[in-house]
Amino acid sequence: MKFYEMTAAQRLAQLVEEGAMTAETAAIFAGSGALSADVAASLSENQLGQFSLPLGVARQVPVAGRVVNVPMVTEEPSVVAAASNGARLLRAGAGVQITLPPHTVRAEIVFDGLPDLPAAQALVAAHEALFKQVADDAHPSAVQRGGGLKAQTVAVIADRFLKIGLIIAPGQAMGANLANTIAEAVGQAAGKLLNSRPLTAILTNRDEAIGRATVAVPLGALATGTRTGAEVATGIAALSALAEVDEDRAVTHNKGILNGIEAAVLATGNDTRAVAAAIYAHAGATGRMSPLATWRQTATELVGSIALPLPVGILGGAIRSLPVAQASLALGGFTTVADLQGALLALGLAQNLAALRAQVGPGLQAGHMKLQARNLAISIGATGKEIGQLAAALSSGVMSEAAAQTLLDQMRKEQHS
Ligand code: MEV
Repeated sequence: MKFYEMTAAQRLAQLVEEGAMTAETAAIFAGSGALSADVAASLSENQLGQFSLPLGVARQVPVAGRVVNVPMVTEEPSVVAAASNGARLLRAGAGVQITLPPHTVRAEIVFDGLPDLPAAQALVAAHEALFKQVADDAHPSAVQRGGGLKAQTVAVIADRFLKIGLIIAPGQAMGANLANTIAEAVGQAAGKLLNSRPLTAILTNRDEAIGRATVAVPLGALATGTRTGAEVATGIAALSALAEVDEDRAVTHNKGILNGIEAAVLATGNDTRAVAAAIYAHAGATGRMSPLATWRQTATELVGSIALPLPVGILGGAIRSLPVAQASLALGGFTTVADLQGALLALGLAQNLAALRAQVGPGLQAGHMKLQARNLAISIGATGKEIGQLAAALSSGVMSEAAAQTLLDQMRKEQHS
């Protein structure tokens, strides 16, 4: 039986059998319906309830010589199917190469209204050692693990603001809390020195640590029922070229990539908004919106590359309180931030390739409508086997709530007659 045809329990059993997860991890996924009341209350002020979404898995995503299962949480039915499909295409090549810079987080401390900006800048520059000490004292455990404040800059902006920039190594955490703690402590010390109060002392969500992945897919692997691999590759390369010159298309192209990346970021308990903010800033860094991934056709291959920042962690934040986030990290085998970032880059390539191939090939709506039909069937109360039967009937006819209700009533009558 194919993985996608199994029940959730069968899929978990298979992943345990494959050695992709332990029985303990499988038990966490199996029992992952709701957070405990305490955890739910601790993650939100004014908590009223909980909001459940399905957690799926993109199977066998190739990442730097390994294949990993990437957990994904999303409300869009076609996303996980497309990711698995894209991963299959990526596996047809010689692998996905990953390059990652050191994991860092940056913060800024900014003063406004200082009377003598050049003097203030010189004073700050002369106190690097003091600020380093203050930063280390603010978070000694980060320093013990080899992290903490690594570099400082000071600059005048727009003849008005004095900005102290900090580069911090957060170890295996995303680093927002660490950056804010250090920025506030250094901000206080700098405030004393300058006899002023910082306007702000906080991390920046701009992340200039750009991860990259490249892949070469043999043309033959891209063939669809009606088009050769070379034809499909030509169409994908043309769509990529379009995204490089048409911002309307670039934004949609990137949205498809984020479909995958954000789903895995959420599944692993990371901050989806931080990742989105950093990625959009990068995509628009040249002053116009650029595609995050591009594709070129050679005589034998379709060559893809993706480049984006990924401010994520495998420790700290909500990960600590969310058992399913920890189970997701275990399922992916993500024991370092680099493991997770590599998988996210490969997933982004897979998601983009699947979306572009669908547009060049059969179009998106065929698959999408099938999944929409299932949603409609479920929304009007179909259960168990009725869902598939009703979805099939709806796909070949009118897709409306009234039509679905009539068909379901008919199916139930026939079953009881
Ligand atoms: C749909 O969620 C995402 C796509 O529109 C992305 C794309 O057009 O490349 C399919």
